Amino acid sequence: MIKNFRALVTKQNKDGAFENIIEQKTTKELPEGDLLIRVEYSSLNYKDALAASGVKGITNKYPHTPGIDAAGVVEESNNIAFPPGASVIVTGFDLGMNTSGGFSEYIRVPSEWAIKCPDNLTTKEAMMIGTAGLTAGLSTLSIVEDLIIENAKIIVSGATGGVGSIGVKLCSQLGAKVTAITGKVEETDFLKELGALEIIDRNDFIDNTRLPLSKGMYDAAIDVVGGNILSSIIASMHYNGIITICGNVRSPKFETSVFPFILRGNSLIGIDSAKRNLEDRENVWNHFATNWKLNELDKICNTVDLDGVIPEIKKILKGEQTGRVLLQL
Ligand SMILES: NC(=O)c1ccc[n+]([C@@H]2O[C@H](COP(=O)([O-])OP(=O)(O)OC[C@H]3O[C@@H](n4cnc5c(N)ncnc54)[C@H](OP(=O)(O)O)[C@@H]3O)[C@@H](O)[C@H]2O)c1
Repeated sequence: MIKNFRALVTKQNKDGAFENIIEQKTTKELPEGDLLIRVEYSSLNYKDALAASGVKGITNKYPHTPGIDAAGVVEESNNIAFPPGASVIVTGFDLGMNTSGGFSEYIRVPSEWAIKCPDNLTTKEAMMIGTAGLTAGLSTLSIVEDLIIENAKIIVSGATGGVGSIGVKLCSQLGAKVTAITGKVEETDFLKELGALEIIDRNDFIDNTRLPLSKGMYDAAIDVVGGNILSSIIASMHYNGIITICGNVRSPKFETSVFPFILRGNSLIGIDSAKRNLEDRENVWNHFATNWKLNELDKICNTVDLDGVIPEIKKILKGEQTGRVLLQL
């Protein structure tokens, strides 16, 4: 049965500028796939803002509906593992990139992209966490593989942002002593509420760190920004330090040398949430539903509707977002 629904559509106008408009669409216009999902919640990630602004290298064809995250209920299915009525989470793969994404009341996707929403997690909680939280979770998974997290000293950059805020909250809840690097020292109370014990202004951190090796201070790091902040993090690790990297909002380039690695045995681990295997994703979502259950998530989320997400897109691109933006469809 064909259904009408609302979606955010990014279009290029006749002057070449990209605009975001809410449009009526029909399920006939959605791409092929064996699952038709009624989206209950999505969330805003940095990548969505790039796709919604026409930044090259994310989405090749416009008009396009962004949204790399979606959680909702299966309405039509050709896969018995996901019967109609099942609650599912879809993040990454090509959703919202070149496949019509989650800023929409309906998506149609291959069932290989879907994960059953764990019993003890609602679709709302899943999207409060979203790709940002999944990425923080995958980073934490890499850390806990090699380190006892309780009382470990962990430093998180971009701490007030999506990945950063969930990273600070999760590691703090797991018993780590978390240091937050931020450009928003005015958000000290927010970061303390997440559990950060120490808050450092990002410029002070850079100014007070000698490259390529400085005083060893931290056991692990979740870096979301790259550039000279990552260089300073690498220089500040204890022996056997673990540094996970996932983003480049500051710069994709960073300076280091072999010394933090050959003199301190540090490891640098790249995190990709979009194409990560389903087993690892399910593992992280199951953790979020059980022993990593995050309390008071609503305190770090600003809930908006389709119209309300448009101004948030501009804000995240400028690095001005604090916490997560939950999109209720
Ligand atoms: N690899 C993956 O699978 C994956 C998944 C999700 C996200 N990412 C990447 O991770 C990064 C963060 O994503 P997000 O969704 O967390 O974005 P976000 O919500 O905008 O958070 C980024 C935070 O970084 C800080 N920041 C912004 N501009 C900066 C600058 N010029 N220098 C230093 N810090 C700056 C800000 O926090 P403060 O003001 O607190 O410093 C900002 O809130 C993006 O590059 C994104 O593409 C990668």
